[in-house]
Amino acid sequence: MPSVVSLSDNSPAIEVRDLVKTFGGVTAVQGLSFAVARGEIVGFLGPNGAGKSTTMRILTGFLGANSGTAAVCGVPVASRGGEVKRLIGYMPENNPLPEDMRVTEYLLYRGRLKELPRARLRSRLDDVLELCDLKRVRHRIIGTLSKGFRQRVGIAECILAEPPVIIMDEPTIGLDPHQIRIVRDLIASLRGRMAMIISSHILPEIEMTCDRVLIINQGRIVAQGTPAQLRREVLGEARYELDLAGHADALPALLTGVEPSLQIATATPADPDGFRQLMLTTTRPDDLGELLLQAFNADGRFRVRGLSRAPASLEDVFLAATKRSWDTVDRK
Ligand SMILES: Nc1ncnc2c1ncn2[C@@H]1O[C@H](COP(=O)(O)OP(=O)(O)OP(=O)(O)O)[C@@H](O)[C@H]1O
Ligand SMILES: [Mg+2]
Repeated sequence: MPSVVSLSDNSPAIEVRDLVKTFGGVTAVQGLSFAVARGEIVGFLGPNGAGKSTTMRILTGFLGANSGTAAVCGVPVASRGGEVKRLIGYMPENNPLPEDMRVTEYLLYRGRLKELPRARLRSRLDDVLELCDLKRVRHRIIGTLSKGFRQRVGIAECILAEPPVIIMDEPTIGLDPHQIRIVRDLIASLRGRMAMIISSHILPEIEMTCDRVLIINQGRIVAQGTPAQLRREVLGEARYELDLAGHADALPALLTGVEPSLQIATATPADPDGFRQLMLTTTRPDDLGELLLQAFNADGRFRVRGLSRAPASLEDVFLAATKRSWDTVDRK
């Protein structure tokens, strides 16, 4: 249970308004506003230099903003930074760990800094060693551990005091797919117990782990929502690839009969066998494949050699959203 915040307090886990941060001539964060609900897992996506780490460092009280406000569980970061630090488990980018300390020794040390009562610290230590699968290496010197184990030590430290908010800056960077999966499962096991912000460049990871995604570009939020909402809002459509021969003039009417929003986005010239590759788009999110095949069969004037749904990936969304805002900047 979170120790500092009363459960009756229903302010969001994180609330950021009009945050601005400049470094000399560089504006790293340009008027960022967002909120994270209690227990929600939010993914921070954005190209290098987008302002993700800067935002996280402001939220954790390690860096002051030029203007705007940030609050954690209703506690303002700027004026009550010490309190905020107790509400957050933070794993910074390239999380530095003391090379010469043993795993248990380090976690006990961190727990004492977090002012966990002795008995609670002992029981939490056992819990996090178990949860992060660190029991085997509990007596090892951190400097001798592989990267995956070090990351897990970092996560163990983050969740040690059961803070209501966890902020992890690229927790899976540099890990092999097996270790990534372990870290992902670990994060998923904390779902609902703590609010989390996780930044990553590994888009399938974000898609699998996060309830909601914020795409940040050049210090601004350029898109946000669940991965499914983002696909719809940023790309606006589902796509189908169709390999088809037959009566070209009759096709639009047939498609409209299946679903009024179905349109032919692109079409190649017919090959020697009369087949064209068509890209169809629709605003309908559910799969229309079976209905399309039934319509072609019933019509009888078409031959279908291939039909597949081409779902947009989060990568498509990311590229479209970050390109879109560059276009906006260019137009200014
Ligand atoms: N301490 C600093 N001094 C000067 N400029 C900085 C500092 N920290 C960040 N910046 C600049 O602010 C911008 C945002 O950097 P930030 O590290 O927040 O990006 P990021 O989204 O975390 O990128 P990455 O995906 O590469 O980690 C960049 O242009 C960066 O060079
Ligand atoms: Mg960063």
